[in-house]
Amino acid sequence: MITVVGSYNRDIIIKVDEFPNSGETIFAKEILHSHGGKGSNQAVSASRLGSNVRLIAAVGDDDLGREAIKFWKEEKIDISKIKTKKNSKTGTAYILVNKRGDTMIIVNRGANFELSEEDIDDADGILLTQMEIREKVVKKALQSFNGLKILNPAPAIIKDISILNLVDILTPNEIEFKELTNADDIEYGLEILLKKVKMAVIITLGERGALIATKQKRILIPAPKVKPVDTTGAGDVFNAALAHYLEKNEDLETSVQFANKIASYSVTTFGAIGPRLEEVKKILEESENEK
Ligand code: ATP
Ligand code: RIB
Repeated sequence: MITVVGSYNRDIIIKVDEFPNSGETIFAKEILHSHGGKGSNQAVSASRLGSNVRLIAAVGDDDLGREAIKFWKEEKIDISKIKTKKNSKTGTAYILVNKRGDTMIIVNRGANFELSEEDIDDADGILLTQMEIREKVVKKALQSFNGLKILNPAPAIIKDISILNLVDILTPNEIEFKELTNADDIEYGLEILLKKVKMAVIITLGERGALIATKQKRILIPAPKVKPVDTTGAGDVFNAALAHYLEKNEDLETSVQFANKIASYSVTTFGAIGPRLEEVKKILEESENEK
């Protein structure tokens, strides 16, 4: 079982040719609504790959919250720990996507910030959590959990850096890695993080794939070459696929290779959630044929 402790947002995706400059007004090409939030994206992506997933998250007592719960039921997520918070609104995210598939995101946290330490229980299996909820709730989840703990530090706003001592695997992207370490030199930054994190730091590098760093070694695992359409949630799909393979007791290298394949495929389609099992079989077959 994978337990995800994290956020839900209704994503409002605004497609543009180019991002506006400060003070500039531009026209949208299209506006789309979809389910998002890093917690929900990671939970649903892992469930689509075939894992049993329990989500601990909060929504508002509103239509968006009810639609989220309906969506999770359809996606076979265990919703027994979902909280509906009275007097707060479901989180929303405003996502600009330009013609190259780059994104800029503003999140209104709403009910995500009402998820509290009391909403967390202990469990084993794999824990996957991110930073779109209160830091003290992330800390409680990391302290309560008995299994393998993965923290995707997104966004990288961590006040009490000692929570990294509770983490087995940390999965920053390049920007988050810099924000966490203040280091221009990657080796120096890794040394700082590997003194805290118990098992590994995996830096996701966009089109270049991902770097696995443990106390013993560094291994760069390249991603397949693709033509990106929308990179929103690439990190979410990567983390979900990583957790899914680690749950199957695969080793780190094999799990990151799988995560790269699934995440790179996901950037060729719109939306922040990964492919279903049927598509995955095709992706894996194609990657075998390319060898
Ligand atoms: P996001 O914030 O958009 O969700 P991220 O910045 O957290 O993503 P990235 O490092 O950009 O994460 O990407 C995560 C993973 O997705 C990469 O390690 C890689 O496997 C895959 N990926 C992302 N962009 C590309 C790309 N252009 N081509 C191939 N694979 C990609
Ligand atoms: O990682 C992508 C997610 O970040 C989006 O779904 C949006 O909700 C923001 O939280």
